[in-house]
Amino acid sequence: MARKPFVAGNWKMNTTKASASELARGVAAGAPDGMDVGVAPPFVYLDAVREALGSSRVLLGAQDCYFEKNGAFTGEISVEMLKDLGVKFCLTGHSERRHVIKEPGELVAKKAKAIYNGGLIVIHCVGEKLAERDAGKTFEVVQKQLEELTPDMNDANRIVIAYEPVWAIGTGRNATDQQAQEAHAYIRGAMAKRWNKDFADRVRIQYGGSMKPENAKGLMSQTDVDGGLIGGASLKSDSFLAICKAAI
Ligand code: 13P
Repeated sequence: MARKPFVAGNWKMNTTKASASELARGVAAGAPDGMDVGVAPPFVYLDAVREALGSSRVLLGAQDCYFEKNGAFTGEISVEMLKDLGVKFCLTGHSERRHVIKEPGELVAKKAKAIYNGGLIVIHCVGEKLAERDAGKTFEVVQKQLEELTPDMNDANRIVIAYEPVWAIGTGRNATDQQAQEAHAYIRGAMAKRWNKDFADRVRIQYGGSMKPENAKGLMSQTDVDGGLIGGASLKSDSFLAICKAAI
């Protein structure tokens, strides 16, 4: 099944207004055809980045949102607000939100539903901690996180899974090609059971965790690896675009 590769940059809490715009211009200038490319800057630079992306095909994304439409939720940002700024996708369940900010799975699930119901693409992040991998619990953990999505979220173009083993994020230690393929194949199989095979065959599953130009080709040439969610290496247009090119 040919799935269109999708590589997205998660800029996390990095950049300034000026450097975000410059990075976005660089990505827009070099984004290859034949795949989806996206960038997720901090909220406060979304507008500037959208302007910098101009009419390019690069998708604008957000790193988080809140599930309510509006109201007394101090500090939060709704899906409607994101759409108003031209946002096309939003991350859910990133390991830094789960484990650093301590966001519970129930909240992740509500956010995912709100993003999906709002018509945006959900990039739902799943992945085990090192102790969980060592204890043989990788599939169990990933399965539980996948269950934050419900089978009525069934537009395969708007559900993307990012497999991001926590021990590989920002550590320089990426999963091996085989470890990534094994987890991705498990995820696709689990989705075939919870949704159906056709849906699972069409869903893109990105790998995230120390992906860089040197290891991108090996990881993304695995059968069930359909792109990447890139942290550190997305902060320079050269390295991010080299990863994008490795996807096609
Ligand atoms: P790194 O690429 O910096 O390891 O981060 C991966 C990630 O968390 C993307 O969401």
